[in-house]
Amino acid sequence: MKLADNKATLSFSNGSPSVELPVYKGTIGPDVVDIRKLYAQTGMFTYDPGFLSTAATQSAITYIDGDKGELLYRGYPIEQLATDCDFMETCHLLLYGELPNAKGKKDFSRLVTMHTMVNEQMQFFLRGFRRDAHPMAIMTGLVGALSAFYHDSTDINNPQHREIAAIRLIAKMPTLVAMAYKYTVGQPYMYPKNDLSYAGNFLHMMFATPCEPYEVNPVLERALDRIFTLHADHEQNASTSTVRLCGSSGTNPFAAIAAGVACLWGPAHGGANEAALNMLHDIQKAGGVEKIGEFIKQVKDKNSGVKLMGFGHRVYKNYDPRAKLMQETCKEVLAELGLENDPLFKLAMALEKIALEDEYFVSRKLYPNVDFYSGIVQRAIGIPVPLFTAVFALARTVGWIAQLNEMIGDPEYKIGRPRQLFDGSVRRDVAPIDNR
Ligand code: ACO
Repeated sequence: MKLADNKATLSFSNGSPSVELPVYKGTIGPDVVDIRKLYAQTGMFTYDPGFLSTAATQSAITYIDGDKGELLYRGYPIEQLATDCDFMETCHLLLYGELPNAKGKKDFSRLVTMHTMVNEQMQFFLRGFRRDAHPMAIMTGLVGALSAFYHDSTDINNPQHREIAAIRLIAKMPTLVAMAYKYTVGQPYMYPKNDLSYAGNFLHMMFATPCEPYEVNPVLERALDRIFTLHADHEQNASTSTVRLCGSSGTNPFAAIAAGVACLWGPAHGGANEAALNMLHDIQKAGGVEKIGEFIKQVKDKNSGVKLMGFGHRVYKNYDPRAKLMQETCKEVLAELGLENDPLFKLAMALEKIALEDEYFVSRKLYPNVDFYSGIVQRAIGIPVPLFTAVFALARTVGWIAQLNEMIGDPEYKIGRPRQLFDGSVRRDVAPIDNR
């Protein structure tokens, strides 16, 4: 870490001696005040629930400029990656730090392709679930269960184990998500096909049946590939921080990624794509575009508990650049499928326009996030609503594993152990049960 020219001085109004704290500079973004020695020097902790001002780590993977609405993976703008590269190149970039050349891309894609099958036992494990289980419940179980199948890649201190676990996770996630889907609809599992692309293979495992040939539609394949690229990593968000914290105990990568899947499920995070589509459905059922005004009124009423799902972001205080790209993909997919007049897409566009002009949203800098349009694209492709977050988990796996491996390789890495401000009861004695 590079020291900044200035230092921070923390002083106290009660006359305690002030302390000097070092300040570090990143390559871009805010400087950080190093408070690691604060407790040793003052006996005090800092307080920052929700990590509003706390950098929990240094990282060289993803950078977001929330005010500009800019997202960079290893320095490359998301717009260029989504337009000029595919998901396999993006995975290579996130994992190893550089975009591959043509041979590197071929070798990396081949390596991933050679690990797409899962152990046959996995289907018996899956059978233990109810057919109507939520796919994210199934995914939390299946991803955690991988550690029971790949004992040869669970030692996080071994770089080869870390590497092969990363490849296995990236390769097997589409297979597991497709298996979870096939299980819920009662269709036979489709084995991966090695001559297909990563996204094409996912479409095949999802929608092919053994009864007839399945042709991958290149427009849908490209759209899905873009969904994967846009969701591949996003800095120190809740699920990534979960993976890091879980992995900091030295647990195996499959267990750490399962923790990320569990965190992603929540509607304030990855579950927002499902929640956004359900919200659009509800407005549509209630009367469509005419009901937007009424809905926005509810959103603005703090007592209603209603939020405009797919809007707002902790970091973006401008348009989420992924939402723009997703809106573009949405138009392409709907045109390809002859769904240009899709009522939900029209509703989403109208809702976005009205919200972006409303003082409530303007003053709070609330803009559409990636999930506002991704649900419409996925639904058009044929992916059922409850599976949306599982598709997000599939795409985010590379980011999770890249961040986990970065943490383990960091000489400053320690088990994560947040502190607390205790405001419960002070010490007291247990009374005999009849006197309580
Ligand atoms: N609808 C209505 N009001 C909102 C919304 C929303 N979607 N998002 C934020 N606000 C309001 C808050 O009520 C708050 O208002 P106040 O200042 O009057 O109290 C203000 O905007 C600031 O919001 P916070 O909740 O403090 O912002 P925070 O950074 O904690 O939350 C979050 C970010 C969780 C994403 C929030 O915007 C939200 O719940 N959005 C809807 C869910 C969603 O789309 N999540 C996906 C995130 S992207 C991803 O995970 C891929």
